[in-house]
Amino acid sequence: MAIRSDMAATDEIQRLQAELTRHEQESAAKELQLERYAADLRETFKQERARAQELRRSYMATVRALSNAVEARDAYTGKHAERVAAYGMEIARALGLELTEEPEIEFGFLLHDIGKVAIPDAILYKPDKLTEKEHALMAQHPVIGSEIVRGIDFLGEAAKIVRSHHERWDGTGYPDGLAGEEIPLSARVFAVADVFDALTTDRPYRPASPLRVAREMIVRESCTHFDPRVVEAFSSIDDATFERIAAEIR
Ligand SMILES: [Fe+2]
Repeated sequence: MAIRSDMAATDEIQRLQAELTRHEQESAAKELQLERYAADLRETFKQERARAQELRRSYMATVRALSNAVEARDAYTGKHAERVAAYGMEIARALGLELTEEPEIEFGFLLHDIGKVAIPDAILYKPDKLTEKEHALMAQHPVIGSEIVRGIDFLGEAAKIVRSHHERWDGTGYPDGLAGEEIPLSARVFAVADVFDALTTDRPYRPASPLRVAREMIVRESCTHFDPRVVEAFSSIDDATFERIAAEIR
């Protein structure tokens, strides 16, 4: 009787051991399969990221080409749009990351004056003061520009910069006379970067202002031309950063 129950117990132990081994083999196989899935997923992510980066590079190349085409007409501003874009991105970074995560704002900085393609040379290059009518036509370039880029989905936020880059914080700008926070933040950032570049580069009618003087002039226009929060962010950036951009993009 005792021998028989010992044998039964041994059988049971063997059965349990066999079952355990089977379970272990099954879970090892599952683990292997999961690892393969994870590796596949990692590879897919890597390829997707590479594709997204490639697409972004193509977009950027297209936008640069367009921006260069606009600037090629205006001999003395040189690489104004590229410098403004670089200054603008620094100011956006100093303001916090909300603006810098999307490439569209850089596109907007680069393309801000695209509407000037519709302004006749005789007005664009007129050395004398513009007549009222000519001035009114010139002031249409943000509207024309925003119409040009409106249908291009990947430009997104950029269209807002194109339309609102001549608005002023106190509401005296154009074309819509927006004031304060009605003006898109990206366009408020652009305004400071644009004036800063204009002040710090030579123009046919005046030499460039030193950095310190340009800084003072921008601070003076806080709350009138510029958003005070953007001026504060601009003022927090050190001279070396501005000097590096000015030396790199000329
Ligand atoms: Fe403009």
